[in-house]
Amino acid sequence: MKQLKLESEIKIADHVGELNEQDSQLLAAAKEAAKGAYAPYSHFKVGAAVLLQNGVTVIGSNQENAAYPVTICGERNAIFSASAQYPDTPILAVAITIISKNKDISRPVPPCGSCRQVIYETEARHQQDVRIILQGDTGEIYLINSVKDIFPLLFDSSYL
Ligand code: THU
Repeated sequence: MKQLKLESEIKIADHVGELNEQDSQLLAAAKEAAKGAYAPYSHFKVGAAVLLQNGVTVIGSNQENAAYPVTICGERNAIFSASAQYPDTPILAVAITIISKNKDISRPVPPCGSCRQVIYETEARHQQDVRIILQGDTGEIYLINSVKDIFPLLFDSSYL
């Protein structure tokens, strides 16, 4: 039997001081965005900031609903908003962070599967990898060059 090994590469910064200016500004925008989350059910606020090729930053946060599945994640909120406002502009990076009320999360919080699928669609749409910057409430920061690193064997339009 053959074996398929999947590899991914993630750079880890110990603190914001190790980031370049662009990444640290985007992460700061995501932290600010998390404050705008509407999360009365989970008390888990997610902030995302998207950097576009034209230099514009678009933010998003999770918006919950009493009908739970209606909730939209912070990442998708930011990406869909960016795509709606600037449909032809590639997305270069997305920073994602959280404010957690129940417990301190001192490790990066990765995007859910649905958000990874949407980040990949964005990469395919614009033929542009999307850099991902992740941090929890505090702690290490993960720097990822493409969602493909954290979302192997993905479904895309080549199967349709
Ligand atoms: N959430 C996000 O905003 N992004 C993710 O990638 C995972 C989960 C939100 C949805 C919900 O409002 C809360 O976090 C708890 O699941």
